[in-house]
Amino acid sequence: MNISKNFSLKNKIAIITGGNGLLGSTYSYGLHEAGAKIIVLDKKINESKFFAFIKKEFNTDLSHSKNIQFIECDITNKKSVDNSFKKISFDLNKLEILINNASLVKQVGTDKLDSTYIPFLKMKKEEWEEYFSVDLTGTLHLCQKVIPYMQKNSGGSIINISSTYGILSPDQRIYSSLSEKNSEDIEKPIGYSVSKSGILNLTRFLATKFASQNIRVNTLTLGGVYANNPKQFVKEYSSKTPLGRMADKSEYIGPMIFLASNASSYMTGSNLIVDGGWSAW
Ligand SMILES: NC(=O)c1ccc[n+]([C@@H]2O[C@H](COP(=O)([O-])OP(=O)(O)OC[C@H]3O[C@@H](n4cnc5c(N)ncnc54)[C@H](O)[C@@H]3O)[C@@H](O)[C@H]2O)c1
Repeated sequence: MNISKNFSLKNKIAIITGGNGLLGSTYSYGLHEAGAKIIVLDKKINESKFFAFIKKEFNTDLSHSKNIQFIECDITNKKSVDNSFKKISFDLNKLEILINNASLVKQVGTDKLDSTYIPFLKMKKEEWEEYFSVDLTGTLHLCQKVIPYMQKNSGGSIINISSTYGILSPDQRIYSSLSEKNSEDIEKPIGYSVSKSGILNLTRFLATKFASQNIRVNTLTLGGVYANNPKQFVKEYSSKTPLGRMADKSEYIGPMIFLASNASSYMTGSNLIVDGGWSAW
């Protein structure tokens, strides 16, 4: 067996939703380095921010790459998804990888939290439903669009992103230190947890339905990534994590390449948890 060939994504086409965000840009870099052509789908496209991030974090200038295409798309809107597929310039016959990564995420420390991290008893129905529309309906739209290509192309790999908060409840005590800096109490919202739990069974449903056509569907469940978060939050999060720290974003590239490539060819319907041991305690 040629090990590096098994992990290679050479000539494969990958769609990454939320590809302009923190982890979406990180995966785009990693998969591009592994040989894939990348389609970055995001509600807000900012190419210069994307390339500056990759230059700063990975010391690599991808701004002249012909293997990255940006398409603005609201994945909650089926029309927007249909239109974005009309703009794809790569050969869809080579579309083999879909990463359902977009979500409603606030970076603790840099984003204002009090409009979204609303305590359970104050939360409105629309705020709860907004999470489902991105994580679940958005994933559904992309899967419905991509699977017919994968069926024609003899298979593919779909990776759905969940969170430790989708397999266990958030410990709200680590968010209480953030309440002082905001006008309202801060709570990690239930909509996020429940939609991330939904991802797990969406994965199993699609994995079993399409396994016979060599379309593999797995969940990648992640723990918290360090993103200039406040000291007290980092301390409390780290003390709940057996490895004693938050993740570095680059540590999620390896698991992603594994799931996207032939290296995981016997894996479908599974949940790969990469969380520094957070869920083991
Ligand atoms: N950052 C973490 O610590 C962490 C931990 C566990 C899991 N995750 C998961 O990783 C994924 C990426 O998180 P991130 O930290 O990079 O967040 P991020 O906010 O940096 O990126 C999310 C991206 O999704 C896009 N998006 C939101 N709604 C959209 C829509 N309707 N259509 C298209 N794009 C849309 C946003 O514009 C943004 O670019 C999410 O699924 C998140 O739940 C993150």
